[in-house]
Amino acid sequence: MSAAFDDWMKTVQAGSENDLSGFLPAPDVIPTKLHDAMRYALLGGGKRVRPLLVYAAGALFGVDAATLSRAAAAVEMIHAYSLVHDDMPCMDDDELRRGKPTVHVAYDEATALLVGDALQSQAFTVLSEASGVPPARVLAMVRLLATASGSAGMCGGQAIDLDSIGISLTLEQLEQMHQLKTGALLRASVVLGALAGKDLDAAELEALNVYARAIGLAFQVVDDVLDATADSATLGKTAGKDAADNKPTYVSILGLEPSRALAEKLRLDAHAALAPFGEKALRLRELADLIVQRKA
Ligand code: IPE
Ligand code: IPE
Ligand code: MG
Ligand code: MG
Ligand code: MG
Repeated sequence: MSAAFDDWMKTVQAGSENDLSGFLPAPDVIPTKLHDAMRYALLGGGKRVRPLLVYAAGALFGVDAATLSRAAAAVEMIHAYSLVHDDMPCMDDDELRRGKPTVHVAYDEATALLVGDALQSQAFTVLSEASGVPPARVLAMVRLLATASGSAGMCGGQAIDLDSIGISLTLEQLEQMHQLKTGALLRASVVLGALAGKDLDAAELEALNVYARAIGLAFQVVDDVLDATADSATLGKTAGKDAADNKPTYVSILGLEPSRALAEKLRLDAHAALAPFGEKALRLRELADLIVQRKA
């Protein structure tokens, strides 16, 4: 990873932190417990991979930061909501997230439920007010994020995940689950960033979809590998949880080394898909590397 990429990443992460804070109600606004808990879930942690993808895709068409900020914040809000619910006792029942106690532990279960609900609606409020993008395209962006979040996307994947505990999936079923629960929001991040710049033609959309499907799957393959190999302090979340919970993962079905090899193959597929964009796709290429080579 180059020093220039590192600087760019830190700038986007810091900018996103600032934007996310500004797009949330202040913690002293009633209901104060809910607003405080929303800030607890969203701020001060996370790799911000989805905002990074929005900005990197925006760079393909020279979109400025002010235009991208709402799309980046919206998808990160949906992601944070998905994590709050994913950790609840009725789902993965986890107590550690982003190096802190999970929301239902630090507050209570009802608050965690409402934090997820409220972050989800706040995401669409923020996105719908995007400036610098024609209204018809804002509508397309809202629709894209809604579809990626719902039963044809993240929620659908989470449903398959919970229904798969203790059973063995085929590789095809496992890939479908991963593409939905994790891939859908990553794909939405890429397309949102590009759509903020222009109406995409069929070739551009196809190239971005191929890239996004590769990094979307790779991201969850690596998440499965890290769950099995890293420690909780490094991850900031409970390690070894998938095996303990008897979840089908790439590691349980394919094995550790073949999973790592698959992630590397997907990294190269992602690079190949970006060829038509040339140098403008530099940040997207570097993010594919980060997603596959990360240690946390
Ligand atoms: C974790 O996502 C959950 C998955 C979708 C695999 P991240 O690894 O992006 O979590 P944060 O945002 O950095 O905490
Ligand atoms: C979570 O997958 C995916 C979503 C939150 C949508 P995991 O359950 O594997 O995520 P972690 O490992 O708890 O972060
Ligand atoms: Mg889960
Ligand atoms: Mg989980
Ligand atoms: Mg996991």
